[in-house]
Amino acid sequence: MKTAIIYHSHSGITKNVIQKIHDEISADIIEVTPIHPYSSLMVIPKGCYRALRGLHDSVLPEKIDVSAYDLLIIASPVWAGKPTPVINGGIEGLTGCQGKHAFVLLTCKSTESGEQALISMVERLKAKGISISGTVVLDQAGSIEIETIQTVIRDISSL
Ligand SMILES: Cc1cc2nc3c(=O)[nH]c(=O)nc-3n(C[C@H](O)[C@H](O)[C@H](O)COP(=O)(O)O)c2cc1C
Repeated sequence: MKTAIIYHSHSGITKNVIQKIHDEISADIIEVTPIHPYSSLMVIPKGCYRALRGLHDSVLPEKIDVSAYDLLIIASPVWAGKPTPVINGGIEGLTGCQGKHAFVLLTCKSTESGEQALISMVERLKAKGISISGTVVLDQAGSIEIETIQTVIRDISSL
């Protein structure tokens, strides 16, 4: 099974989880980054404003062709109870995704907020023709607990 991990991470928590998954799962890894990065001053007002409205940022890579992959692992932090405008930009640029399967991973401070963001993320992926094979929301503790991450790895491996 050919797997691609596509993720955004602003402050490194999601990236750290993804690296642990990538250590155990054979996959291509693609980090989505904003063309205009958020400064520490603007990330809350501008990032939350854009996330709340479901906007998508201009990102690199601009397009990601996933036609060669069987499974996509899509990961993002939660901003204002929503997926980030950066991962929205990454999803917007996916091509060849009709009929593909995705495992969605979100990191956040509060699980409740993460579960809310998951709804938007799943809708966005489904609109691209992607089926959801599994999801996980990791709060601050879960994002660094090795046992929790091992469980996520087992869940992904069983797909
Ligand atoms: C702009 C901004 C908005 C955030 N909004 C939320 C939120 O609504 N709910 C929540 O649980 N965490 C929120 N967080 C916390 C992040 O989702 C959490 O720390 C995440 O794990 C960070 O991942 P990263 O280090 O990969 O960027 C927010 C963080 C930032 C920077």
